Amino acid sequence: MKVIEKVSEMQKWSEAERCAGRRIALVPTMGFLHEGHLSLVREGKKSGDRVVVSLFVNPAQFAPGEDYGSYPRDLERDRLLLERERVDVLFHPPAEAMYPNGHQTHVEAGPLGRFLCGLSRPGHFRGVTTVVAKLFNIVRPHVAIFGLKDYQQFQIVRRMVADLHFDIEIIGHPIVREKDGLAMSSRNAYLDGRERGAARCLHRSLKKAALLVRQGEREAARIVSAVKEEIEREPLARVEYVSLCDPCSLEELEAVDGEALLALAVRIGKARLIDNTLLKA
Ligand code: PAJ
Repeated sequence: MKVIEKVSEMQKWSEAERCAGRRIALVPTMGFLHEGHLSLVREGKKSGDRVVVSLFVNPAQFAPGEDYGSYPRDLERDRLLLERERVDVLFHPPAEAMYPNGHQTHVEAGPLGRFLCGLSRPGHFRGVTTVVAKLFNIVRPHVAIFGLKDYQQFQIVRRMVADLHFDIEIIGHPIVREKDGLAMSSRNAYLDGRERGAARCLHRSLKKAALLVRQGEREAARIVSAVKEEIEREPLARVEYVSLCDPCSLEELEAVDGEALLALAVRIGKARLIDNTLLKA
């Protein structure tokens, strides 16, 4: 596996692969890899001839006071995991390469960036769209894989690709979970033993909502309060939001009619955890 840190070297490598007629798959990550990331890599192997994984903890998507400084990092472990998956290139640029002195241009997410996580993390999605657009221009992939765990991010990236005419296929990969249902996340590393136990309430609450819908409940307000109630039974958990919304526009729904996205964010100790599921009436 090649490790590339320089933007120009990454661009040159991709240009050569494109000229040779090979299809490039990109998996963007912030590292501290787990099975969720690795399943995206495997999806990349299926959809491209070459797989590039980018590892960059993007300062622009963290607000002041968020966990940029303490975000878990372990480059050596990540490198070994990716080598084992037979990844072709690990692109690992320093922050100065991505945001050189004088940098001032950003990609602004539209209304999709204002719902759900956008409410409590102003500027977050602007940071995401900006860095993803940069990665697309540096790696020039034919296809890029994103996890549906960050469902809003996936929809925003899809919108950006359409709006800015990037010639890139975007694949959404299902959420990978621990045995007890907790969605895998680099931020799960913040949880101590008791908090880790408490974190099971996220998946439990999603399952409860799915059961309610199967039993015939359609009213959004009743489903949302049942979900909140389930989470709030856990004393260590604090609900940030629970939203039942349209899976494309992310606008709140009054009733489940067809497909609906149930998305939530919960704080447990130092960790802010998100999860979601699609409900079908
Ligand atoms: P990061 O949180 O490292 O996630 C990288 C990719 O892995 C994202 O597409 C995310 O949705 C996916 N992912 C994480 N946990 C997953 C799980 N349990 N199941 C399935 N997919 C999972 O998301 C980011 O980084 C950044 O915002 C990034 C897109 C790299 C831009 O900086």
